[in-house]
Amino acid sequence: MDTTPSSALSSSYLLLISLLCCLPLLLHGGDDDSPLDQTCGDTGNYTANSTYESNLSQLLHTLSSVASVSDGFSNASTGESLDQVFGLALCRGDNNATDCRTCLDGASNDTQQLCPYHKEAVIWYDDCLLKYSNQNFTSAFDNSEQAVLYNINNITGERFPGYTQNTTIKNFFNQVVNTLLSDVADSAASNSNSGKLFATGELTITNGFPTIYGLAQCAPDMPGTECRQCLQAEINETLNYFDGRIGGRVLGIWCNLRYEVYPFYYGRSMFVGVPSYCS
Ligand SMILES: *[C@@H]1O[C@H](CO)[C@@H](O)[C@H](O)[C@H]1NC(C)=O
Ligand SMILES: *[C@@H]1O[C@H](CO)[C@@H](O)[C@H](O)[C@H]1NC(C)=O
Ligand SMILES: *[C@@H]1O[C@H](CO)[C@@H](O)[C@H](O)[C@H]1NC(C)=O
Ligand SMILES: *[C@@H]1O[C@H](CO)[C@@H](O)[C@H](O)[C@H]1NC(C)=O
Ligand SMILES: *[C@@H]1O[C@H](CO)[C@@H](O)[C@H](O)[C@H]1NC(C)=O
Ligand SMILES: *[C@@H]1O[C@H](CO)[C@@H](O)[C@H](O)[C@H]1NC(C)=O
Ligand SMILES: *[C@@H]1O[C@H](CO)[C@@H](O)[C@H](O)[C@H]1NC(C)=O
Ligand SMILES: *[C@@H]1O[C@H](CO)[C@@H](O)[C@H](O)[C@H]1NC(C)=O
Ligand SMILES: *[C@@H]1O[C@H](CO)[C@@H](O)[C@H](O)[C@H]1NC(C)=O
Ligand SMILES: *[C@@H]1O[C@H](CO)[C@@H](O)[C@H](O)[C@H]1NC(C)=O
Repeated sequence: MDTTPSSALSSSYLLLISLLCCLPLLLHGGDDDSPLDQTCGDTGNYTANSTYESNLSQLLHTLSSVASVSDGFSNASTGESLDQVFGLALCRGDNNATDCRTCLDGASNDTQQLCPYHKEAVIWYDDCLLKYSNQNFTSAFDNSEQAVLYNINNITGERFPGYTQNTTIKNFFNQVVNTLLSDVADSAASNSNSGKLFATGELTITNGFPTIYGLAQCAPDMPGTECRQCLQAEINETLNYFDGRIGGRVLGIWCNLRYEVYPFYYGRSMFVGVPSYCS
């Protein structure tokens, strides 16, 4: 797979270059509260002081207050007919209520600055995502709207010494990332973390190889099978986008995942694994 990420992109995807490479020791990307990416929708504009604006403002307030106390998630709608606004908010599973609310309040402000008068917008941060629209998008698990980010650096080194197959370090790394993300996705979809479909995990192979940290999350009211499928589609994309990259994220509306060679979430990993082909 030598396809470059840009040629693998379809027009519905956004690609950003993460600058995390320059901050390899930054433990929590969440310390930076600027948006990772945003999309201003093309479903129409509202005018100043309109009913839509008033309903949107009420919806944003509701999403933030509800999500911060309800497993970091809220799905709601306000208003009627042409002035109806649908919204969804999801905070990262390791955030507490305070961080969740701070992130979503910032998101409400930022969308008003970045997508002024747009009836639809979606914005992603380290700690949360927010989407609102005049379209009834919350009734289906459509995860096609995404932000894809990766570390510009690649795994380097000779062939992995303990590994018997004649494979490059890059292919070996890709396999380990895939194993980790599959395990983290299984764990997230099994809903074992008190109502949140969220999991973190790490894989350590030897001292000479970086420990890899992974995270997966779905909107908490998704059925487990839908969650696993949503994450699998993103895992499939990692093979195309991140071939050998030392970190990457696929951020959707309904599910998201991320891996790095440094710890990037609060607390301990929810599991510590060993790849099956190394045991
Ligand atoms: C909405 O406003 C933006 C500028 O703020 C403009 O670029 C866009 O074309 C407008 N969209 C519609 C549907 O009018
Ligand atoms: C909207 O309302 C504010 C405050 O009432 C007012 O200052 C502003 O002129 C209004 N804007 C429009 C476009 O009506
Ligand atoms: C929508 O906004 C209008 C105008 O401010 C307001 O009268 C109405 O109550 C709002 N709808 C809801 C459900 O809040
Ligand atoms: C929430 O987490 C932050 C760290 O991100 C911490 O500083 C803060 O004290 C926590 N707040 C509560 C209420 O636990
Ligand atoms: C959002 O914007 C309002 C008005 O500009 C400001 O008072 C408030 O502090 C901002 N909140 C956040 C979380 O940035
Ligand atoms: C959104 O669409 C779904 C499916 O079409 C429908 O069941 C639901 O009532 C709609 N929700 C609202 C608030 O209109
Ligand atoms: C979002 O809320 C609407 C209205 O309550 C509901 O019909 C829909 O099933 C919810 N969607 C999800 C994915 O939770
Ligand atoms: C990583 O690999 C990609 C594709 O092989 C290449 O385009 C890119 O320049 C490499 N990055 C660095 C920092 O060498
Ligand atoms: C491993 O693969 C490389 C390149 O495909 C080849 O040149 C080399 O001979 C192979 N080594 C072994 C031990 O098979
Ligand atoms: C992921 O890729 C595998 C293997 O190519 C394929 O069988 C599976 O259907 C894909 N899953 C999703 C959800 O795209």
